Amino acid sequence: MAEVVLGLDLGTSGVKVVALSASGELVAHASRHYPLLTPHPGWTEQRPEDWAAATLAALGDVTGQLRESGHIPQALGLSGQMHGAVFLDAGGEVIRPAPLWNDQRTGVAVAEIEAAIPRAELIARTGNRAVSGFQLPKLLWLRQAEPENFSRVRRVLLPKDYLGFLLTGTFCTEPSDASGIGALNLASKTWDRDVLDALRLDVALFPEVVDSWAVVGQLLPEIAAQTGLPPGLSIVAGGGDNAAAGVALGLSSQRPELGSVSLGTSGVLFAPLAEPTPDPEGRVHLFAHADGGYNLLGVTLSAAGALQWFRDKLAPETSFQTLLDEAASIDSAEGVTFLPFLSGERSPHMNPDLRASFSGLSLAHGRPQLVRALLEGAAFALADTYDVMRPLSDLKTLLATGGGARSAFWLGLVAGALKLGVQQVAHEPGAAEGAAMLAMPAAGFYPDVQAVMSALAPVGQLVPALNVAGSLASYQAERAKVVTGNRVENI
Ligand code: XUL
Repeated sequence: MAEVVLGLDLGTSGVKVVALSASGELVAHASRHYPLLTPHPGWTEQRPEDWAAATLAALGDVTGQLRESGHIPQALGLSGQMHGAVFLDAGGEVIRPAPLWNDQRTGVAVAEIEAAIPRAELIARTGNRAVSGFQLPKLLWLRQAEPENFSRVRRVLLPKDYLGFLLTGTFCTEPSDASGIGALNLASKTWDRDVLDALRLDVALFPEVVDSWAVVGQLLPEIAAQTGLPPGLSIVAGGGDNAAAGVALGLSSQRPELGSVSLGTSGVLFAPLAEPTPDPEGRVHLFAHADGGYNLLGVTLSAAGALQWFRDKLAPETSFQTLLDEAASIDSAEGVTFLPFLSGERSPHMNPDLRASFSGLSLAHGRPQLVRALLEGAAFALADTYDVMRPLSDLKTLLATGGGARSAFWLGLVAGALKLGVQQVAHEPGAAEGAAMLAMPAAGFYPDVQAVMSALAPVGQLVPALNVAGSLASYQAERAKVVTGNRVENI
């Protein structure tokens, strides 16, 4: 019987489980969806019970496939959406739905953190300023808005760590996800007592922090019975989704010249780092990487999401490929500029109130110029973020991921805007594959995570960079009109 490891990604739209062989071959996979709750404007929540049911169903599905193909799982690694808060009572029961990474209810709590801890000190300790999506302000929000619920909280867990608790009965986290809470001291990778004391929070609320590749516990017999997985299966801590995806791409903090750019709904720049060097103003995130090092993370909120918006609202009968071909058929946007702030902006402006615009239009312009300006605007927003990262990172090359990365033309605009090599990868592994790779040392497949990444990282193909100097200057002039400094309330 052949051995495999399992990897799980608890995403925002659904959970995905994969089974990989030691050589990285995808042997089985399954996914399940669950609802996103939006009970008030700006609130996003999910029911941890829905995550649990979907996860057990997907695990059962994969176990069935493995039984048929004659494979035996040796370990299971976890990954998932970062920053969410699962509030548990003394009996380990969920107290209320979990606010998610993109929830915006915490403006008052963010101000409370900023009043208690000077911004520069919080950044020096935790790598980040107070960010409304992070877990820490969610806990303060609960104390202020739902004091009865807060009084029952004995533990607060990140989404994937809640699954770890369900599978093993242990409370654990690991640095890559824990650094998205807002209270992890990045240098020591332990909870920062001074930060927690300043906010009157008990450190016992938070789980133990172990290495991302460490075994957090063994699969409970009742879960084994429900899923068909072997009882006692080793469950590995894993990583936050961006870190796990970084592992899947072979992004090592020992090789900081190779990072990634994702053109998904949002645009994400990931830069591995050996040392925890934050942006002193906290305009990009600094997290612990799941390979034991660190990474900068810049998140622009509208990338392929902006193209999707344009297509859905203005050209619903038209394929993405047609829009991309039209934009590529002209040499420039011919003076049209797009600011892509359809959902406000996170990196580097940290301003939820920014809004998008097209400017410079004349009667001569039409859809090709508008789409070209939109694609350029998304690339230029990433360039704004990279401007903050450049002095802190050693990036030379980016592996491209996400739906937008299928367009070599769009990647050419990104390469031109950032002045970095951008590579397409034929097979694009994601966070679930990264979680499985983080479980390979525990399964005995490789000695450590670096060896896993060296063996399984995909090979990229460089795309030609396009010259965007003229339109970048127009974008910067338009952006300077609307971005007039950072707000305290972050996004
Ligand atoms: C990272 C972030 C998102 C979530 C999405 O800071 O907020 O990438 O991890 O799952």
